[in-house]
Amino acid sequence: APSPLTDRFGRVHTDLRVSLTDRCNLRCTYCMPAEGLDWLPRPELLTDDEVVRLVRVATRRLGITEVRLTGGEPLLRRGLPGLVARLHALPGSPELSLTTNGIGLARSAPALRDAGLSRVNVSLDTLRSERFTAITRRDRLADVLAGLRAARTAGLTPVKVNTVPVRGVNDDEIAELAAFAVEHGYRARFIESMPLDAQGAWDRDRMVTAEEILGRLGERFDLVPVGRRDNAPAEEWRIAGTDTVVGVIASVTRPFCGGCDRVRLTADGQLRNCLFATEESDLRALLRGGAEDTEIEAAWRNCIAGKGPGHAIDSPEFRRPDRPMSAIGG
Ligand code: GTP
Ligand code: 5AD
Ligand code: SF4
Repeated sequence: APSPLTDRFGRVHTDLRVSLTDRCNLRCTYCMPAEGLDWLPRPELLTDDEVVRLVRVATRRLGITEVRLTGGEPLLRRGLPGLVARLHALPGSPELSLTTNGIGLARSAPALRDAGLSRVNVSLDTLRSERFTAITRRDRLADVLAGLRAARTAGLTPVKVNTVPVRGVNDDEIAELAAFAVEHGYRARFIESMPLDAQGAWDRDRMVTAEEILGRLGERFDLVPVGRRDNAPAEEWRIAGTDTVVGVIASVTRPFCGGCDRVRLTADGQLRNCLFATEESDLRALLRGGAEDTEIEAAWRNCIAGKGPGHAIDSPEFRRPDRPMSAIGG
């Protein structure tokens, strides 16, 4: 039986986030520049075999029970349903979820469901076509909406819609996005933006705080507190008179690092004990050097042993990680 992956603060890590690519087909202004980034050369990415091997070590030896596939945009990964099927077939069958911008989901949702994916979280910052194009620099709102519907139809539920409100850009749409979730049977979540963009342009004053988000929602709906599920980043409310749950992820103003149960693997096989970690452990080098599972397990435990108490976004000592969110994994 696996022995728990515990850090020096007693936090037990059961949730693995695996980035499958650093590439994306959108160019969200709060994430990366119009020209994109210097993408990882293909040979540096973990292969499907390598991802499966590491997730097997994580589930068999380290007690990981949930695996979230992220990116970049994970639907850009060739043969994704095949990889999902292999992860689903692992001993312990980890719960598999996906965080995506939704482009291509209309086509792939049934195959992903059949392969064993449980559910999806889809990023959507606006319901207005022109605004979508301004934020993402691509005219793809219709694809995302089709992807959302297909996910619901395929049973990749609950489907969560992730919105990053930015002041003066889409903060006037918070209640509308919640109403959209009510109408279509999704969950709506609003995320405080974090200083993880590639340009270094994050501005605290343009971040919309949890308090403001709840104020906007409160103008339109009565909210019944649901609380926080286990160690989830989101604090949740039910919209009175409906089954709809809305969540707020307040990384900056209400940090949740004290209950963190997450560990991250980048697309190039680097293990990170935190989104804001300043160091990575090179699991790819171990894999490609012929390491045994026991050595991978030891490196993994060592990485978690070095995990800090959490980020300090709101403190003057805050230091950004060396890579942006799109390269680390969302
Ligand atoms: P659920 O299992 O559906 O609750 O997933 P999730 O909310 O953990 O995952 P998702 O990929 O949808 O993440 C939504 C947002 O939560 C991300 O964009 C981040 O902004 C934030 N987030 C996720 N994990 C972390 C984390 O470990 N630390 C911080 N600070 N923010 C996180
Ligand atoms: N801060 C917070 N959330 C972000 N996302 C992308 N960049 C940031 C940021 N700087 C969101 C995306 C997506 C999720 C994976 O992360 O909008 O919903
Ligand atoms: Fe965990 Fe780091 Fe995220 Fe805090 S910032 S919740 S410690 S991954």
